[in-house]
Amino acid sequence: MSDTPVPRRRITDRAQLARLWSFVRPYRVRLAAALGLLLASFAIELAGPALIRAAIDGPLAAAARGTPLEPLVAELAALAGGYLACILVGAALGFTFARTAARIGRSVVRDLRIALWRKLVRIDARWHDQNPSGRVVTRMTTDLENLDELVSSGGLHAVFDLLKLVGIVAVLAFVQPAVFVLGLIAVPTAAAVSLVFRGAARRAYGDVRTRVADQAAFTAEFVGGIRTVRAYGREALIDARYDELNARTRGAWVRTVRAFAAFFASVDFVLRSAQAAILLVGGRAVALGEATAGALVQSWLYFGKLQEPIRELGERWHVLQSALSSAERILAILDEPDGPGDPATGAPPASTGAAAGDLQFDGVAFGYTPDRPVLRGVDLAVRAGETVAVVGPTGAGKSTLLALLSRLHDVDRGVIRLGGVPITAMPIAVLRRKVAVVQQEPLLFDGSVLDNVRLFDESIDRDAVARTIAAIGAESLLAARGGLDAPVGERGQLLSRGERQLVAFARALLADPDVLVLDEATASVDSATEGRLQAALAKLRAGRTCLVVAHRLATVRDADRIVVLVEGRVVEEGRHAELVQRGGVYARMHDAATALV
Ligand SMILES: Nc1ncnc2c1ncn2[C@@H]1O[C@H](COP(=O)(O)OP(=O)(O)OP(=O)(O)O)[C@@H](O)[C@H]1O
Ligand SMILES: [Mg+2]
Repeated sequence: MSDTPVPRRRITDRAQLARLWSFVRPYRVRLAAALGLLLASFAIELAGPALIRAAIDGPLAAAARGTPLEPLVAELAALAGGYLACILVGAALGFTFARTAARIGRSVVRDLRIALWRKLVRIDARWHDQNPSGRVVTRMTTDLENLDELVSSGGLHAVFDLLKLVGIVAVLAFVQPAVFVLGLIAVPTAAAVSLVFRGAARRAYGDVRTRVADQAAFTAEFVGGIRTVRAYGREALIDARYDELNARTRGAWVRTVRAFAAFFASVDFVLRSAQAAILLVGGRAVALGEATAGALVQSWLYFGKLQEPIRELGERWHVLQSALSSAERILAILDEPDGPGDPATGAPPASTGAAAGDLQFDGVAFGYTPDRPVLRGVDLAVRAGETVAVVGPTGAGKSTLLALLSRLHDVDRGVIRLGGVPITAMPIAVLRRKVAVVQQEPLLFDGSVLDNVRLFDESIDRDAVARTIAAIGAESLLAARGGLDAPVGERGQLLSRGERQLVAFARALLADPDVLVLDEATASVDSATEGRLQAALAKLRAGRTCLVVAHRLATVRDADRIVVLVEGRVVEEGRHAELVQRGGVYARMHDAATALV
């Protein structure tokens, strides 16, 4: 991957909503149904006050004029029945709507979660280097939940609220024009108040999310590293840093709450003042005979219905804000480039006549960041079946070179060929079947030894795993820990480091690769075990290309060739004896090593 990391783009809300829409689109039919239900609910909402008006201006007014009671009571009963029916239908619609909306929400979030997970598994490895796992976990949990809330409750309900606001004010024009004018003034004022608090609330909310994520990342990191903290007695220092993070989180929350409290109070004030004005303006119209009493009550009731959506809009806004911040972060991850992928053309690369295990690095240059090259043009050819040891000072780029071979990263310049074919031209799965790596710090997953050797691939049978372990002479060692079914614990911490390396070793051999890559694979086992491993390796190397990194020169002596890597360049190459004689870097490393013995 040669592209420089893109600075985080500021995505406008509209662009984000459009991206989010691509996840909602598959459910658009259900969404349309939900919107239909909304419209029906709205009509039912309006019907209630209209029935009350009908009662006031109809039978009640007639009763006041002295009309006989009996037919009036029948009329009232019919109106009451209608009112009840409205409530029943309204409840049924509300229930169906809530269910439909929630289903859409869950489905959308499930799809997003899948997309996010797929991305996290395939994203460029450097992204994970730069993003603490605690923060990533927050993306998968809190941020997705925020979006769930937006889609399943916030979003559609916000549409309902807007519909109510606009619809009710519009209906007021027909019910009582004087009150309609009041609505025209009060609703935009309340909306303007919400806009005033918008910026502050949004910033505060984004702040809260960042703080919470920082705290989670910090917790995950130090709980994971608790042994190191204790070993160096750094508890108090860590406490202080934690307290500071905690205080910042609290501060961010308080700012958010303040913004919203102020919002609610002002909205309430605006609307209640308007209701006072209705009494005056609407009452005057009734007194002048310009409107009926029923119309005044109806518009008062409609106006009362504005309060809820405006308040709710504040709540929804809250949800929307946090969901948009979450969406921004999730979409930013989905926009990240994947790690090395399969070649664009599916055609298998043509055979070049080279042996399957031939390995060739040609002018390979690479840096984790563009400003700091790690490998500066490595040329190295390894013939099939040959064992080449790569040695060099710490930080020289040895592990990096090996990571490029299995395409954990792609080279910035140069080519790596395997069997004569550029590794970028073969499907990743094929490459990784051909090349097996024992990493410098092999990672085990929670599970048994068996799970870890076959890496959860249950198509590999138990006997094959047992044979592989026997082949590296690690049988007795692992038997002492409980054999194949022994649990290894989280990150393999129930095993010793050397035992973990043995498991990783077995894992690599089980893959039966053309190229075996060992990065300090025997650094943590005792000399006797190492001796056994070397002997086993000598057998297993047959017919395989082997690339071995080791600091202990004793382990590299027997290599067919030794390559010395310094600051990302091959500076010497040859057999052990030749290099010692040459008196260069290797000879000095050798002298230093023997001086220690
Ligand atoms: N994931 C990473 N992100 C950024 N820089 C990295 C990363 N991994 C390694 N580096 C840097 O690249 C350089 C080479 O690292 P590498 O792990 O290849 O060294 P090495 O030769 O294997 O060293 P050692 O002998 O200590 O294992 C180092 O300077 C290191 O800081
Ligand atoms: Mg290394």
